[in-house]
Amino acid sequence: MTASDILFTIAEEVQRCTACNLHRGRTRAVPGEGPANARVMFIGEGPGYHEDRQGRPFVGPSGQFLNDLLALAGLRRDEVYIANVVKCRPPQNRDPEPDEIATCTRLFLMRQIAAIDPIVIVTLGRFSMGLFLPGERISRIHGQPRSVNGRLIVPMIHPAAALHQPQNRPLLEEDFRRLPAIIADAERQRSAASPATPPADEPPEQLRLF
Ligand code: URA
Repeated sequence: MTASDILFTIAEEVQRCTACNLHRGRTRAVPGEGPANARVMFIGEGPGYHEDRQGRPFVGPSGQFLNDLLALAGLRRDEVYIANVVKCRPPQNRDPEPDEIATCTRLFLMRQIAAIDPIVIVTLGRFSMGLFLPGERISRIHGQPRSVNGRLIVPMIHPAAALHQPQNRPLLEEDFRRLPAIIADAERQRSAASPATPPADEPPEQLRLF
């Protein structure tokens, strides 16, 4: 199975999922979108009103802002993968509950990460950061890359938080401006760590779960 096939299968499972209560209020589930070979993966919190209507991540006001932020980092939206911690909209945009996060990430997000195997994961907001850097505070470590199980995690303030609290906006923009250098560094490290062509007896796609 190719990484695209795996992502397609996961998306189908997401649409049918009834594993937690969030499915009861959804219009459409939001599996995520982007190329299977994306070098950079962005992980938000969960769908909001517009995402729930359209079945696509980051298409409302925070999505418009994310598009501007991607441009600051010299990234096109169609070259990155964008997903969320939970795939169904929490009622009234409340915070996702720990059991919803645990169920949804085990069933879907961790498999998406394993299939895409991105060089850099950018977490947007504290719930996404908490998956990789539990106990950290976003206000203290935003923009600082950390290696977690051999993968670079860059915790960022959530775009919606910067829209609601304008003092966060310049911080977030500055963190995105620094992203190209962080990605280039991570790419150099990965190519130094692994040969360009995998040996013939090794599968080209290694499934890595953490
Ligand atoms: N906020 C998120 O965290 N994810 C979305 O998809 C939209 C808004």
